[in-house]
Amino acid sequence: MIITLDGPAGAGKSSAARALATRLGWCYMDTGAMYRAVALTALERGIPLDDSPRIAVLAEEVRIEFRDGRVNVDGRDVSVEIRTEAITAATRPVADAPPVREAMKRIQRRMAEGIDVVTEGRDQGSVVFPQAELKVFLTASPEERARRRHREELGRGHAPTLESVLESQSRRDDADCARPVGAMRQADDAVLLETDGLSAEEVVQRLAELAEACRRSREQP
Ligand code: DC
Repeated sequence: MIITLDGPAGAGKSSAARALATRLGWCYMDTGAMYRAVALTALERGIPLDDSPRIAVLAEEVRIEFRDGRVNVDGRDVSVEIRTEAITAATRPVADAPPVREAMKRIQRRMAEGIDVVTEGRDQGSVVFPQAELKVFLTASPEERARRRHREELGRGHAPTLESVLESQSRRDDADCARPVGAMRQADDAVLLETDGLSAEEVVQRLAELAEACRRSREQP
């Protein structure tokens, strides 16, 4: 069975998807981390970020694995490296390129074959797994998302203003929605879950209830 969780940056997708997968005992796929890992490897190998055919080949060559909450590329733990500002910026042209997205779609479908998985990203329900049994579009107001991101940044010892976080978030939202291929979009049959005012535990609880309802309806003749 496949559960897709799509939505904008800062909606709390990653922690919700990870917690849901743990609760269900399923695999977890963070597709943003996959794009980030490919961008990091391209930089390390000196492949220009606008050489999308070569980056698409690279994506097929490297082995990306999620293990114990870490992201590994060819057996190397890159969990921390892929979260830097530089890699966030380098990932943008990589994720925009249609040949890379085509390769990623194939890879993600292969990874999900024959297993129960919670997969998280922008296009998982709309493009990669249109047949998913449960699709959720997780979002929150821009102000709420920016407040969460701002708190995280302060926790990491950075000191951006709330306004600057809101501004860069709005640029990312625009770019995610404007991408010609694989733009962030709520699938027609996705459940919309707004997380303003909900704690992380409450979000996971709602998701688990949706998953249970979906499982029960599948069992009915
Ligand atoms: O969710 P994130 O910030 O880790 O995503 C990193 C980048 O990859 C961001 O530019 C959005 C993009 N992305 C995408 O285009 N499609 C996905 N399925 C997941 C992420």
